[in-house]
Amino acid sequence: MELQKAVFPPIIAVFNHKGGVAKTTTAGNLAACLAAFGYRVVLADLDAQGNATGSFGILPLPPVGAMDVITGRVRLDEALIPTSFPGLSLLPATTQLRTAEQELGAHERSHLALRTAFASQNIAAHAHIVIIDCPPSLGTITGNALAAAAAVLIPARPDPYSHEGLVNTWHEIKRLRQNANATLNVAGILLTMTGEDTTGGDVARSMRAEFGDQVYAIAIENDPKVTEAAQMGVPVSVLDPDGGAGLGYLQATAEMITRLRRHARHDIHALAEPLPLITAQNTLRDWRSRLPGLQRRAGANPAWTAVQIANEDADDLPSAPPPARTEAPRQGFGWGALLLMLLLGGALGAAVTVFSYKDIAGH
Ligand SMILES: Nc1ncnc2c1ncn2[C@@H]1O[C@H](COP(=O)(O)OP(=O)(O)O)[C@@H](O)[C@H]1O
Ligand SMILES: [Mg+2]
Repeated sequence: MELQKAVFPPIIAVFNHKGGVAKTTTAGNLAACLAAFGYRVVLADLDAQGNATGSFGILPLPPVGAMDVITGRVRLDEALIPTSFPGLSLLPATTQLRTAEQELGAHERSHLALRTAFASQNIAAHAHIVIIDCPPSLGTITGNALAAAAAVLIPARPDPYSHEGLVNTWHEIKRLRQNANATLNVAGILLTMTGEDTTGGDVARSMRAEFGDQVYAIAIENDPKVTEAAQMGVPVSVLDPDGGAGLGYLQATAEMITRLRRHARHDIHALAEPLPLITAQNTLRDWRSRLPGLQRRAGANPAWTAVQIANEDADDLPSAPPPARTEAPRQGFGWGALLLMLLLGGALGAAVTVFSYKDIAGH
């Protein structure tokens, strides 16, 4: 079938089994930073909560969005919403995502609906790279995201219980590789909301020891600007491009681009060389400087456009790649958990070997 032959842009699903680990924050900021690096980006919000859509100031959720594309009711170009950040468009969430299970049914190919839609709608004509914000659950929608994705990026918060979330996430990836997407890679583990506290530092160190260079060198620190940015309807990398989390996300994006470019695949369009980091940072600063004109769209009869920044050149989309260019803690972290961690560490070590990016991405 055509699906087999379709060549996709890199599609990165941001997923972790756990909620509250900064999946949505990471997806929105990666998308904005990728646009600043010169790529055309589609951010697909597949979480019925619509936080990624809302984090770009689009509230309430629009009537048409990702689910309509998945079911083939509307064309991709009818559902995409341009943002004021040149190069970045949104495939918004709609409330219909809540009933995806019923709508897509339980037949064995239901998880391929998004991949099929992206292939038939030629997603490559719209994006050099696609970022998908996934819900924390492992239902039909996440299955669709992981079946369409080239790789999954796992944000992980270094708290004592995040290990369990990582284990579950690895298992889900393994299951998906067996059943739905044999070439699904891991695009890495990004530590988020890191702080000064000793426990978090210990957990972060043990995760690095266990998962090796799957863990990004850059970690995203705890930064109150993230919440402020979300409330304003802009990514923190735009609101505060020189701050802890803002600059962290720019650097994490650079790291992701390097990882993706290192592992070319015949069925995935190669990413062109990005603009230099300083250029991307200046672009974010430029977007930041226009923010005072930002208007949050809300109310009963909104125009379905993303937030407007004082921006005369929103049409300057690069048409081609740049030329050269809460879960409450249960209890303390006891010996039982440590033993479990050691046991699972062995199993995961094997899993990492099996799924090592090299292996997977090589062919
Ligand atoms: N680096 C950070 N510093 C401070 N708060 C953060 C950071 N990253 C995310 N948050 C906040 O944590 C909460 C959960 O983040 P979110 O991205 O919605 O997680 P998820 O999508 O995994 O549920 C949000 O309120 C968000 O603003
Ligand atoms: Mg989320």
